Amino acid sequence: MAKGYSTRVLTFLMLISLMAVTLNLVSSTAEAKERRRDVPIVKGLSWSFYQKACPKVENIIRKELKKVFKRDIGLAAAILRIHFHDCFVQGCEASVLLAGSASGPGEQSSIPNLTLRQQAFVVIDNLRALVQKKCGQVVSCSDVLALAARDSVVLSGGPDYAVPLGRRDSLAFASQETTLNNLPPPFANASQLIADFANRNLNITDLVALSGGHTIGIAHCPSFTDRLYPNQDPTMNKSFANKLKRTCPTANSSNTQVLDIRSPDVFDNKYYVDLMNRQGLFTSDQDLFVDKRTRGIVESYAIDQQRFFEDFTVAMIKMGQMSVLTGTQGEIRSNCSARNTRSFMSVLEEGIEEAITMI
Ligand code: HEM
Repeated sequence: MAKGYSTRVLTFLMLISLMAVTLNLVSSTAEAKERRRDVPIVKGLSWSFYQKACPKVENIIRKELKKVFKRDIGLAAAILRIHFHDCFVQGCEASVLLAGSASGPGEQSSIPNLTLRQQAFVVIDNLRALVQKKCGQVVSCSDVLALAARDSVVLSGGPDYAVPLGRRDSLAFASQETTLNNLPPPFANASQLIADFANRNLNITDLVALSGGHTIGIAHCPSFTDRLYPNQDPTMNKSFANKLKRTCPTANSSNTQVLDIRSPDVFDNKYYVDLMNRQGLFTSDQDLFVDKRTRGIVESYAIDQQRFFEDFTVAMIKMGQMSVLTGTQGEIRSNCSARNTRSFMSVLEEGIEEAITMI
């Protein structure tokens, strides 16, 4: 009798503690999301921008991406990279999504963008169409992309965070040259990266944390074979270099290599463990462990994933607000890969301008 009673008490206590742990987990996730709301936001963006016009936008995107990533988790990396390439060229205004036009080739034809995955652009177009079906033409392509990038992180195992919304889409894309000049190359060293990021108001911590995006995804051989041929980069682990040489028998091989050899599809802190083992793929990665200004941050993330997650979310919210268009600037594109159809007058004005330049 006493035994039966104490078993019930024990079961009851276990249930209570299980509930407490669950509640704690739920509230700490909510807290983490909430905490990121202390990052300053630019004028025109807001944490609750679509609350009235499209309250379900975040659910629609998350639900659809869950399905997409079940089929191909690699697309999470592809979407995250597109968001970065959008923000660093002209700001986060979806110019990277525009296909080329009569005015010239779009950003997608610029060298660093040739390895962006076409399938990921299709995913963004589809998300935008789903959202438009539910809410009408109210959510911008740049906001869809920023939310999809956040969900790519979350659904790969990374941290959740709130995204300030209200971006508008650009009316034009950057030239191929501007695109090339604004995207840091994989052969950049830490000094160059620190300077480049500083120009964009991103500090050294932001640089190291954002580089952790390379914890998922792949690269093509030409992005890193300068470290293998003709001479092997001495900062690269020898057996890692030999393995890479087998993957890329020639400098221009079209093969691919995962960026994080420890957990290629999981958003975790293993990228920093790779760097500490001299198994970073690009110079831009490995030099973060060579340079004294960034080395300590790499080490701290390698031993403390939570710290990486917190700094990463802050840096993503900062990056996601670079030179955004708000208010009446730009437009809300109906189709992410093309500007909205222009009015008769604006086409006429453009024609007159063109005619004048031809004279
Ligand atoms: C710090 C400067 C950076 C440089 C030099 C750089 C360079 C590169 C290069 C060369 C590739 C491989 C391209 C290829 O060969 O296919 C790549 C892939 C990737 N990058 Fe970066 N990147 C940088 C920063 C970032 C940032 C800030 C993020 C996001 C937060 C990011 C996310 C990614 C992802 C996820 C991939 C894999 C894409 C895929 O699998 O399709 N990168 N990056």
